[in-house]
Amino acid sequence: MPEADTEGARYQADKPQTAPGFFLKGSHQLDWGMKNRLARVFNPQSGRTVMLAVDHGYFQGPTTGLERIDLSIVPLLPNCDALFCTRGILRSVIPAESQKPMVLRASGGPSILKELSDEQIAMDMEDAVRLNAAGVGIQVFVGGEFETRSIHNMTRLVDAGLRCGMPVMGVTAVGTNMVRDARYFRLACRIIAELGAQYVKTYYVDDGFETVTASCPVPIVMAGGKKLPEIEALTMAYNAVQQGASGVDMGRNIFQSDAPKAMIQAVHAVVHQNMKPQHALDMFHSLKSQG
Ligand code: 5RP
Repeated sequence: MPEADTEGARYQADKPQTAPGFFLKGSHQLDWGMKNRLARVFNPQSGRTVMLAVDHGYFQGPTTGLERIDLSIVPLLPNCDALFCTRGILRSVIPAESQKPMVLRASGGPSILKELSDEQIAMDMEDAVRLNAAGVGIQVFVGGEFETRSIHNMTRLVDAGLRCGMPVMGVTAVGTNMVRDARYFRLACRIIAELGAQYVKTYYVDDGFETVTASCPVPIVMAGGKKLPEIEALTMAYNAVQQGASGVDMGRNIFQSDAPKAMIQAVHAVVHQNMKPQHALDMFHSLKSQG
Protein backbone atom coordinates (compact mmCIF):
# COMPACT_ATOMS: atom_id res chain seq x y z
CA MET A 1 0.00 0.00 0.00
CA PRO A 2 1.69 3.31 -1.05
CA GLU A 3 2.09 6.00 1.63
CA ALA A 4 -0.46 8.79 1.56
CA ASP A 5 0.99 11.79 -0.30
CA THR A 6 1.69 14.28 2.49
CA GLU A 7 4.60 15.89 0.72
CA GLY A 8 2.83 19.15 0.04
CA ALA A 9 2.00 19.65 3.72
CA ARG A 10 5.59 18.93 4.81
CA TYR A 11 6.87 22.01 2.96
CA GLN A 12 4.64 24.39 4.98
CA ALA A 13 4.74 26.80 2.07
CA ASP A 14 2.53 29.29 3.90
CA LYS A 15 5.19 29.91 6.61
CA PRO A 16 8.07 32.29 5.85
CA GLN A 17 11.48 30.84 6.70
CA THR A 18 12.63 31.97 10.13
CA ALA A 19 15.27 34.68 10.07
CA PRO A 20 17.38 34.23 13.20
CA GLY A 21 18.45 37.49 14.76
CA PHE A 22 21.62 37.84 16.79
CA PHE A 23 21.81 38.76 20.45
CA LEU A 24 24.84 41.04 20.46
CA LYS A 25 24.65 44.76 19.94
CA GLY A 26 25.64 45.87 16.44
CA SER A 27 26.62 42.35 15.41
CA HIS A 28 23.52 41.22 13.49
CA GLN A 29 25.03 41.87 10.05
CA LEU A 30 28.27 39.96 10.60
CA ASP A 31 29.00 36.70 8.84
CA TRP A 32 28.13 33.32 10.37
CA GLY A 33 31.63 32.32 11.45
CA MET A 34 32.20 35.66 13.15
CA LYS A 35 28.87 35.41 14.97
CA ASN A 36 29.57 31.82 15.96
CA ARG A 37 32.90 32.82 17.50
CA LEU A 38 31.26 35.76 19.31
CA ALA A 39 28.55 33.43 20.62
CA ARG A 40 31.27 31.27 22.18
CA VAL A 41 32.74 34.23 24.07
CA PHE A 42 29.44 35.96 24.98
CA ASN A 43 26.78 33.80 26.59
CA PRO A 44 23.72 33.90 24.29
CA GLN A 45 21.37 33.60 27.31
CA SER A 46 22.68 36.59 29.28
CA GLY A 47 24.31 38.36 26.35
CA ARG A 48 27.37 38.84 28.57
CA THR A 49 30.80 37.40 29.21
CA VAL A 50 33.34 36.95 31.98
CA MET A 51 36.69 36.93 30.19
CA LEU A 52 39.72 36.19 32.32
CA ALA A 53 42.63 38.40 31.22
CA VAL A 54 46.05 36.83 31.71
CA ASP A 55 47.94 38.39 28.78
CA HIS A 56 50.01 40.75 30.95
CA GLY A 57 53.26 38.91 30.31
CA TYR A 58 53.40 40.21 26.74
CA PHE A 59 54.84 43.47 28.03
CA GLN A 60 55.24 43.00 31.82
CA GLY A 61 56.87 39.58 32.10
CA PRO A 62 55.86 37.43 35.09
CA THR A 63 53.32 39.73 36.76
CA THR A 64 52.27 38.98 40.36
CA GLY A 65 49.77 36.14 40.21
CA LEU A 66 50.91 34.98 36.78
CA GLU A 67 54.33 33.58 37.71
CA ARG A 68 52.98 30.05 37.17
CA ILE A 69 49.93 30.14 34.93
CA ASP A 70 49.73 26.35 35.04
CA LEU A 71 49.17 26.53 38.80
CA SER A 72 47.23 29.79 39.22
CA ILE A 73 45.13 30.13 36.07
CA VAL A 74 44.45 26.67 34.62
CA PRO A 75 42.31 25.75 37.68
CA LEU A 76 40.17 28.84 37.01
CA LEU A 77 39.33 27.86 33.42
CA PRO A 78 36.03 26.13 34.31
CA ASN A 79 34.80 29.40 35.86
CA CYS A 80 35.44 31.84 33.01
CA ASP A 81 33.58 32.23 29.74
CA ALA A 82 36.78 32.89 27.77
CA LEU A 83 40.49 33.31 28.43
CA PHE A 84 42.42 36.32 27.07
CA CYS A 85 46.02 35.16 26.75
CA THR A 86 49.06 35.15 24.48
CA ARG A 87 49.74 32.43 21.95
CA GLY A 88 52.93 31.59 23.85
CA ILE A 89 51.01 30.75 27.02
CA LEU A 90 48.32 28.97 25.03
CA ARG A 91 50.80 26.65 23.35
CA SER A 92 53.02 26.08 26.38
CA VAL A 93 50.61 25.90 29.31
CA ILE A 94 46.91 25.75 28.43
CA PRO A 95 45.69 22.17 27.95
CA ALA A 96 44.59 21.64 24.35
CA GLU A 97 41.68 19.55 25.67
CA SER A 98 40.12 22.73 27.04
CA GLN A 99 36.87 23.68 25.36
CA LYS A 100 37.02 27.27 26.62
CA PRO A 101 37.12 29.92 23.93
CA MET A 102 40.55 31.54 23.69
CA VAL A 103 40.95 35.18 22.72
CA LEU A 104 44.55 35.82 21.75
CA ARG A 105 46.66 38.92 22.33
CA ALA A 106 47.71 40.00 18.85
CA SER A 107 49.77 43.14 19.52
CA GLY A 108 53.12 43.70 21.15
CA GLY A 109 56.56 45.18 20.84
CA PRO A 110 57.65 47.46 23.65
CA SER A 111 58.13 46.21 27.20
CA ILE A 112 57.28 48.25 30.30
CA LEU A 113 60.77 49.71 29.93
CA LYS A 114 59.82 51.60 26.74
CA GLU A 115 57.07 53.71 25.14
CA LEU A 116 54.09 51.36 25.21
CA SER A 117 52.22 52.87 22.27
CA ASP A 118 55.04 51.83 19.95
CA GLU A 119 53.30 48.51 19.24
CA GLN A 120 53.00 46.37 16.12
CA ILE A 121 50.72 43.53 15.15
CA ALA A 122 52.45 40.58 16.80
CA MET A 123 50.63 37.58 15.38
CA ASP A 124 49.46 36.41 11.95
CA MET A 125 45.74 35.87 11.63
CA GLU A 126 46.61 32.50 10.10
CA ASP A 127 48.11 31.46 13.44
CA ALA A 128 44.98 32.56 15.31
CA VAL A 129 42.93 30.33 13.01
CA ARG A 130 45.43 27.47 13.45
CA LEU A 131 45.03 27.82 17.22
CA ASN A 132 41.23 27.70 16.91
CA ALA A 133 40.98 31.13 18.57
CA ALA A 134 37.58 32.65 19.28
CA GLY A 135 38.96 36.16 18.78
CA VAL A 136 42.01 38.35 18.93
CA GLY A 137 42.75 41.48 20.96
CA ILE A 138 44.88 44.52 20.25
CA GLN A 139 45.77 47.74 22.09
CA VAL A 140 44.66 51.02 20.55
CA PHE A 141 46.48 54.08 21.86
CA VAL A 142 44.11 56.95 21.05
CA GLY A 143 46.00 60.12 21.96
CA GLY A 144 49.23 58.18 22.45
CA GLU A 145 52.58 58.99 20.89
CA PHE A 146 52.15 56.34 18.19
CA GLU A 147 48.39 56.84 17.80
CA THR A 148 48.22 56.56 14.01
CA ARG A 149 50.32 53.42 13.83
CA SER A 150 48.37 51.84 16.64
CA ILE A 151 45.06 52.54 14.90
CA HIS A 152 46.49 51.29 11.62
CA ASN A 153 47.59 48.09 13.38
CA MET A 154 43.99 47.59 14.46
CA THR A 155 42.47 48.25 11.04
CA ARG A 156 44.88 45.78 9.41
CA LEU A 157 44.01 43.21 12.05
CA VAL A 158 40.29 43.82 11.46
CA ASP A 159 40.79 43.34 7.70
CA ALA A 160 42.64 40.08 8.34
CA GLY A 161 39.93 39.01 10.81
CA LEU A 162 37.14 39.71 8.33
CA ARG A 163 38.83 37.45 5.79
CA CYS A 164 38.48 34.46 8.10
CA GLY A 165 35.64 35.32 10.48
CA MET A 166 37.80 36.22 13.48
CA PRO A 167 36.40 38.93 15.80
CA VAL A 168 38.80 41.66 16.92
CA MET A 169 38.62 43.17 20.40
CA GLY A 170 40.08 46.69 20.42
CA VAL A 171 41.45 47.68 23.82
CA THR A 172 41.51 51.35 24.84
CA ALA A 173 45.08 51.77 26.03
CA VAL A 174 45.42 54.95 28.05
CA GLY A 175 48.78 56.67 28.44
CA THR A 176 49.84 57.30 32.05
CA ASN A 177 49.60 61.08 31.64
CA MET A 178 46.12 61.02 30.10
CA VAL A 179 42.81 61.78 31.82
CA ARG A 180 40.64 58.67 32.23
CA ASP A 181 37.16 60.18 31.95
CA ALA A 182 33.97 59.47 30.02
CA ARG A 183 34.88 62.05 27.39
CA TYR A 184 38.15 60.27 26.59
CA PHE A 185 36.57 56.80 26.60
CA ARG A 186 33.67 57.93 24.38
CA LEU A 187 36.25 59.15 21.88
CA ALA A 188 38.48 56.08 22.06
CA CYS A 189 35.68 53.46 22.04
CA ARG A 190 33.87 55.13 19.19
CA ILE A 191 37.01 55.37 17.05
CA ILE A 192 37.76 51.69 17.68
CA ALA A 193 34.20 50.67 16.73
CA GLU A 194 33.98 52.97 13.71
CA LEU A 195 37.22 51.52 12.38
CA GLY A 196 35.83 48.01 12.54
CA ALA A 197 36.55 46.22 15.82
CA GLN A 198 33.76 43.78 16.66
CA TYR A 199 33.94 44.64 20.39
CA VAL A 200 35.82 47.00 22.66
CA LYS A 201 37.52 46.59 26.01
CA THR A 202 37.59 49.73 28.09
CA TYR A 203 37.81 51.01 31.66
CA TYR A 204 34.91 51.89 33.92
CA VAL A 205 34.47 55.51 34.99
CA ASP A 206 32.19 56.55 37.85
CA ASP A 207 30.80 59.51 36.00
CA GLY A 208 29.11 58.97 32.64
CA PHE A 209 30.02 55.36 31.81
CA GLU A 210 26.53 54.90 30.33
CA THR A 211 27.40 57.53 27.70
CA VAL A 212 30.46 55.46 26.75
CA THR A 213 28.37 52.32 26.19
CA ALA A 214 25.50 54.22 24.55
CA SER A 215 27.73 55.90 21.97
CA CYS A 216 29.66 52.73 21.13
CA PRO A 217 27.75 50.77 18.46
CA VAL A 218 29.31 47.40 19.40
CA PRO A 219 29.58 45.54 22.73
CA ILE A 220 31.88 46.86 25.43
CA VAL A 221 33.62 44.66 27.98
CA MET A 222 34.91 46.34 31.10
CA ALA A 223 38.65 46.17 31.79
CA GLY A 224 39.61 45.41 35.38
CA GLY A 225 42.68 47.53 36.05
CA LYS A 226 44.81 47.50 39.18
CA LYS A 227 43.84 45.33 42.14
CA LEU A 228 41.08 46.79 44.30
CA PRO A 229 39.41 45.46 47.45
CA GLU A 230 36.92 42.78 46.38
CA ILE A 231 33.84 44.85 47.19
CA GLU A 232 35.09 47.69 44.99
CA ALA A 233 35.89 45.38 42.08
CA LEU A 234 32.49 43.69 42.34
CA THR A 235 30.74 47.06 42.54
CA MET A 236 32.63 48.29 39.49
CA ALA A 237 31.64 45.17 37.51
CA TYR A 238 28.04 45.50 38.68
CA ASN A 239 27.83 49.18 37.72
CA ALA A 240 29.45 48.53 34.35
CA VAL A 241 26.95 45.85 33.29
CA GLN A 242 24.01 47.82 34.68
CA GLN A 243 25.21 50.77 32.60
CA GLY A 244 25.37 48.83 29.36
CA ALA A 245 28.60 46.79 29.34
CA SER A 246 28.30 43.30 27.86
CA GLY A 247 30.55 41.82 30.50
CA VAL A 248 34.09 42.10 31.77
CA ASP A 249 37.63 41.15 30.80
CA MET A 250 39.29 41.19 34.23
CA GLY A 251 42.72 40.06 35.26
CA ARG A 252 44.44 41.33 38.42
CA ASN A 253 41.18 41.79 40.33
CA ILE A 254 40.67 38.06 39.94
CA PHE A 255 44.09 36.41 39.95
CA GLN A 256 45.59 38.74 42.59
CA SER A 257 42.64 38.16 44.95
CA ASP A 258 43.30 36.09 48.11
CA ALA A 259 40.84 33.59 46.70
CA PRO A 260 40.80 33.80 42.89
CA LYS A 261 38.36 30.91 42.38
CA ALA A 262 35.87 32.46 44.79
CA MET A 263 36.34 35.87 43.20
CA ILE A 264 35.75 34.73 39.63
CA GLN A 265 32.55 32.97 40.72
CA ALA A 266 31.36 36.13 42.45
CA VAL A 267 32.13 38.19 39.32
CA HIS A 268 30.28 35.59 37.24
CA ALA A 269 27.16 36.00 39.42
CA VAL A 270 27.33 39.79 39.14
CA VAL A 271 27.70 39.67 35.35
CA HIS A 272 25.29 36.89 34.43
CA GLN A 273 22.72 37.05 37.24
CA ASN A 274 22.80 40.76 38.08
CA MET A 275 23.74 39.82 41.64
CA LYS A 276 24.15 42.91 43.84
CA PRO A 277 27.74 43.64 44.93
CA GLN A 278 27.15 43.07 48.67
CA HIS A 279 25.45 39.74 47.99
CA ALA A 280 28.32 38.79 45.64
CA LEU A 281 30.82 39.72 48.37
CA ASP A 282 29.00 37.42 50.81
CA MET A 283 29.19 34.70 48.18
CA PHE A 284 32.92 35.40 47.78
CA HIS A 285 33.54 35.06 51.54
CA SER A 286 31.48 31.93 51.79
CA LEU A 287 33.28 30.26 48.84
CA LYS A 288 36.62 31.45 50.22
CA SER A 289 35.93 29.92 53.64
CA GLN A 290 35.04 26.62 51.96
CA GLY A 291 38.53 26.67 50.47
C1 5RP B 1 45.82 46.24 29.24
C2 5RP B 1 45.39 44.86 28.96
C3 5RP B 1 46.08 43.89 29.81
O1 5RP B 1 47.13 43.31 29.26
C4 5RP B 1 45.24 43.06 30.68
O2 5RP B 1 44.31 42.34 29.93
C5 5RP B 1 44.67 43.90 31.75
O3 5RP B 1 43.92 43.21 32.69
P1 5RP B 1 43.66 43.81 34.14
O4 5RP B 1 43.87 45.30 34.04
O5 5RP B 1 42.26 43.47 34.47
O6 5RP B 1 44.64 43.18 35.06
O7 5RP B 1 44.56 44.59 28.13
O8 5RP B 1 44.99 47.13 28.63
